[in-house]
Amino acid sequence: MPCRNVVTQIGGVEKIDEGAKILREGGLVAFPTETVYGLGADAFNEEAVKQIFIAKGRPQDNPLIVHFASVEDVKRAVKEIPEVAYKLWDKFSPGPLTLVLPKSEELPLVTTAGIQTVGIRIPNHPIALELIKKSGTGIAAPSANTSGRVSPTLAEHVYEDMNGKIPLILDGGQTDVGIESTVLDLTKDTPIVLRPGAVTVEMLIEVLGKVINHKGEVIIAESPGMKYKHYAPIVPCVGAKCVQSAVAEYDKHSNAVIVARESFLKEIPIGYNVASLGESPSECMRSVFGLLRDLEKQYDYIIIEDFSEKSEYYALNNRLKKTTGGIIV
Ligand code: TXA
Ligand code: MG
Repeated sequence: MPCRNVVTQIGGVEKIDEGAKILREGGLVAFPTETVYGLGADAFNEEAVKQIFIAKGRPQDNPLIVHFASVEDVKRAVKEIPEVAYKLWDKFSPGPLTLVLPKSEELPLVTTAGIQTVGIRIPNHPIALELIKKSGTGIAAPSANTSGRVSPTLAEHVYEDMNGKIPLILDGGQTDVGIESTVLDLTKDTPIVLRPGAVTVEMLIEVLGKVINHKGEVIIAESPGMKYKHYAPIVPCVGAKCVQSAVAEYDKHSNAVIVARESFLKEIPIGYNVASLGESPSECMRSVFGLLRDLEKQYDYIIIEDFSEKSEYYALNNRLKKTTGGIIV
């Protein structure tokens, strides 16, 4: 119903109550956030969320971000909230950071495009926050553009794309940040930036210690005290699944070393810093801790052969998983 022949109004703060009412009744409202304008619907109302996909012409397999006004309210959409999410919200929320977390049963699958995780954001904009609070729900909102077009940073941009399709656009002037939020997936061993944004990898590693950036590169905090764990050298350490990935990782650092079995090191080009674990499981277990202690004094970055696929090296791998924090390049 909302997607055809609708008269589209544009209004300011005086229209927030009306916007909240439209959302409660299952309609769509565009609203400003500090990043870009969002096209909102009640995230828990399946029929309403479907209208977003129709209005934007959005592919059905692209999940929506759900917006809340406070950390307390997030719980309704999320199954578990890891400690680290609270730390990130403490520092960056409200703000341009979306956290991907396991979704709750209550949140309809249409909102997450059929997947079991949900992107959650607490936007830093008074109109957005007021609208969310007054609607009394979480608001699913993609950027308020027609799918494939540039994201809107003015109410007029939204009007260009959504005129006649939605009843109300709340106008908050030009958005501050101008590009969409950073999307960070917290459902994997190491947090992964799925979309870069104003909350940068450098800002994130201060909290997380280790992040995979959107290009798939492992970024590790320089300060070792960030992420104290057993079996960890005092310099960053990652696993390498093959000779090629070890060499590629080595080339990104100015003072790195590759630690591996003899058979692995034979294929490393001449001139690379290397250290041998020996070859058999018992040799490797005997040498590994001493070697790491020596190498951390000489090098700034340690790349160690990954043993996760080799069952004979199970015990060694058990320790190395902690050494590398499960980061495999
Ligand atoms: O700044 C923003 O994030 C804006 C404002 C309105 O909040 N919203 C926004 O939404 O940019 P959208 O739908 O245009 O982009 C959301 C991005 C998409 O790339 C989507 O695939 C990803 O976030 N995303 C959402 N939920 C996800 C999930 N559960 N897992 C992985 N990626 C997800
Ligand atoms: Mg978008």
